Amino acid sequence: MYVPADATVLITYGGGSAKKSGLIDKVKTVLGNRKVYEFGGIDPNPRYETLVKAVEIVRNENIDFLLAVGGGSVIDGTKFITLASCYKGDPRNLLKFGFMPIPFDVVNKVVPFGTVLTLPATGSEMNSGAVISYEHGKFPVMCELAFPKFSILDPIITFTLPKIQVANGIIDTFVHTTEQYITFPVDARVQDRIAEGILQTLIEIGKTTIAETENYDARANLVWSATMALNGIGGAGVPQDWATHMIGHELTALFGIDHGQTLAIVYPSLLEVRREQKRVKLLQYAKRVWHIESGSEEEKIDLAIRKTREFFESLGVKTRLSQYGIGTDKIPVIIEQLKAHGMTALSETQDLTLDIIQKILERAV
Ligand code: NZQ
Ligand code: ZN
Repeated sequence: MYVPADATVLITYGGGSAKKSGLIDKVKTVLGNRKVYEFGGIDPNPRYETLVKAVEIVRNENIDFLLAVGGGSVIDGTKFITLASCYKGDPRNLLKFGFMPIPFDVVNKVVPFGTVLTLPATGSEMNSGAVISYEHGKFPVMCELAFPKFSILDPIITFTLPKIQVANGIIDTFVHTTEQYITFPVDARVQDRIAEGILQTLIEIGKTTIAETENYDARANLVWSATMALNGIGGAGVPQDWATHMIGHELTALFGIDHGQTLAIVYPSLLEVRREQKRVKLLQYAKRVWHIESGSEEEKIDLAIRKTREFFESLGVKTRLSQYGIGTDKIPVIIEQLKAHGMTALSETQDLTLDIIQKILERAV
């Protein structure tokens, strides 16, 4: 219904989970008589080299609709495929814009695409961003044209997820929310309460949805939390701090740690180091999300940060670099990569320099 009846469709998917579960066959049945091609093998943390192969198919077979069936990696990869298919130059140029939206004079049209979401985490199903891996880095790609035409969110499709991917998804959703909430106050009451609603939901359903894989209600609440956490609504007009994500991307690129796991390592330490800059919102977070009422301001902040770490750990995710075999000797390499990628003035106030990141990483060991 959402895909034009005369469309030539390319279904994109990942390493095979959607094939194995029978989802790809179901999608093909729904597509009926439309001409359908398939492109599988999009890697977790989708790699440029894989994606450009799909660009060839889009061009050679005159594909006029893309259908991403997968998690954030497949959806992000499909966003890149659609942008690169309509770009005449070297597609690597599209990795150079960072958080700046790709201007219309660089790409002014795309092949429309939809998504069938299989992993609640990134929010990619309702935003126009992607993160693409190339050589030793992960590069944000933003483009207003890269919004999905539709996304199908069926919690049942996510029942086949391994527990660790569910935990990763909860943490990713949590940190997307806090990176747009624990900054400094701007009297954005609706955005704050959206954030507090998502965080409390995650705390309520987190352990249950991991333990009870087929608990529909718990999973449905996770799916909607993940989508709402990064679709631009809670983040509209408020300061945003993507430092944990940028540091986390280097940990994935260097050591292959899953995206959600990198956030669980960086975020509690970042909060400890940045408690002064974030003081007012940390106190609000302590009160409204963790219901901490007693103690001095310092004690409340300490407890809120401790509860955050404990929540991540309660989901079975480690929060220390050393638990992944990474010691202080690796910190200079991480700092070097951040420098190489221009990540030298991060945070909601752009004053998170490499020497402060060094402190955060030292605490995270
Ligand atoms: O590849 P397949 O075989 O499908 O297996 C995947 C993959 O191994 C598996 N999986 C997905 N759905 C499944 C399933 N296994 C069983 N049943 C299902 N229903 O899960 C593994 C991880 O999948 P992936 O798509 O890599 O995970 P996620 O959704 O967490 O996406 C991570 C990527 O998204 C980027 C990250 O940087 C990373 O590259 N992000 C994208 C964002 C965005 N576009 O807005 C924001 C995020 O902050 C994030 O940076
Ligand atoms: Zn994320």
